[in-house]
Amino acid sequence: KILILDFGSQVTQLIARRVREAHVLSEVHPCDVTDEWVRAYAADGHLKGVILSGSHASVYEDTTDKAPQAVFELGVPVLGICYGMQTMAHQLGGKVEGGHKREFGFASVRARGHTKLFDGIQDFATPEGHGMLDVWMSHGDKVTELPPGFKLMASTDSCPIAGMADEARRFYAVQFHPEVTHTKQGHAILERFVRGICAAGADWVMKDHIAEAVEKIREQVGDEEVILGLSGGVDSSVAAALIHRAIGDQLTCVFVDHGLLRLNEGDLVMDMFVGKLHAKVIRVDASDLFLGKLAGVSDPEAKRKIIGGEFVAVFKQEAAKLVGAGAKGAKWLAQGTIYPDVIESGGAKSKKAVTIKSHHNVGGLPEQLGLKLLEPLRDLFKDEVRELGVALGLPPEMVYRHPFPGPGLGVRILGEVKKEYADLLRRADAIFIEELRNFRDDTTGKTWYDLTSQAFTVFLPVKSVGVMGDGRTYDYVVALRAVQTSDFMTADWAELPYALLKKVSSRIINEVRGINRVTYDVSSKPPATIEWE
Ligand code: XMP
Repeated sequence: KILILDFGSQVTQLIARRVREAHVLSEVHPCDVTDEWVRAYAADGHLKGVILSGSHASVYEDTTDKAPQAVFELGVPVLGICYGMQTMAHQLGGKVEGGHKREFGFASVRARGHTKLFDGIQDFATPEGHGMLDVWMSHGDKVTELPPGFKLMASTDSCPIAGMADEARRFYAVQFHPEVTHTKQGHAILERFVRGICAAGADWVMKDHIAEAVEKIREQVGDEEVILGLSGGVDSSVAAALIHRAIGDQLTCVFVDHGLLRLNEGDLVMDMFVGKLHAKVIRVDASDLFLGKLAGVSDPEAKRKIIGGEFVAVFKQEAAKLVGAGAKGAKWLAQGTIYPDVIESGGAKSKKAVTIKSHHNVGGLPEQLGLKLLEPLRDLFKDEVRELGVALGLPPEMVYRHPFPGPGLGVRILGEVKKEYADLLRRADAIFIEELRNFRDDTTGKTWYDLTSQAFTVFLPVKSVGVMGDGRTYDYVVALRAVQTSDFMTADWAELPYALLKKVSSRIINEVRGINRVTYDVSSKPPATIEWE
């Protein structure tokens, strides 16, 4: 396996992820582990190499960290990345200088000499035959003098020592970030390091992750009881399936149905978790409560606050019953927190990542209930969570679903939320989604559901005139929304085929009595948002 020492970079888990993509097992540990710890860690002979991550700090600030010196004495290959390179240079007798202008963004790196790490890896070659790499840089300090035994491996115009290697000791270091996708050959470089240079076995698969995660959960939890808030979303579903695999009936899921879910969603969740997985799920039907609180409220933010607040209150009430169940009362709260949530809330493992914003998943609930927190997906990225879900036997349709906002249909019914509106919207939306799954694009062969990032129907509480048979109708309007985006920060409206729109429109108007007009939203984000509220 590969040991990744985390110096607090925002992207340390990306290194772990790239190593997993090369099918090699890795573990991330904080950089301030001791020399004894490192030696003990390597003692069983399974350690094949070490990667030193980047950091947001500078080698010359007093507070910053060094790698445990033992790392350089184990006889295994070491790769330093960004700060990891600087600390390697510093600790092995080279020179690092601070106070430079921060370099941030793309850079063109020229490979120097011939090293195993870059051999045959390049984006293009110069007419003189020098290998060139387009890379992502983010640093202020730089190495200005190679440590003894090292040779120059790469350079850029502004960073003459952008890579260095001591091939006898198998120490390599790069100033750029091979773990981010902006560095096009980054994946190849990291794979070369772990597979080629460290000769780590390519035997890591998601199945192993399940086995490891199950073991870890059992170890953590022992014979204590665990509560998990199941929403039907991908993360909580995968967390539930994983924890259930580990501890079976010691897990109780609480599924709060706020009445603003999609058509049959509650039943589908119950069928899956109770019917197929035989998990314990308490379904709380709180739709009347939620609709009651929402009556007369039309401001979007006020609606969100009510839904979020009630959700926590209902969940807390149910959880408190489980906690209070005597000696066997629950001791753990499980959450489907995934790595991007951890990074967003600044709570990365080593507590070194800079706080960006707090995230609802990591809120104060465990403290209030006196529960310990169990977060088995904390190190995984969304697509890995999905892969894990499928490996655990969850249906791909569930695991590869479009995101659905916490407040549910509450933000898709404009203005005041009423049961009548929610029922109409649910039926119209189910038709839209069904047809998106039915229609395939000829060139890619993919369904339009898979070709869009998020698609849904919005209920407009306005009435318009129509004709049906020989009668006049005066009914509600819905808007269809379908977007394509990679990060949900910006989005384009999807150019759905007219045949698809036509089918959806005609089915909604014919099948959902109460809706007589369907529109398609052709606004991009920005300036519009994806949701209408
Ligand atoms: P907007 O509408 O801001 O949406 O372009 C971006 C993404 O965020 C989702 N979204 C929410 N998710 N609670 C959530 O859990 C919310 O209140 C909320 N509002 C928007 C939205 O569905 C889209 O994926």
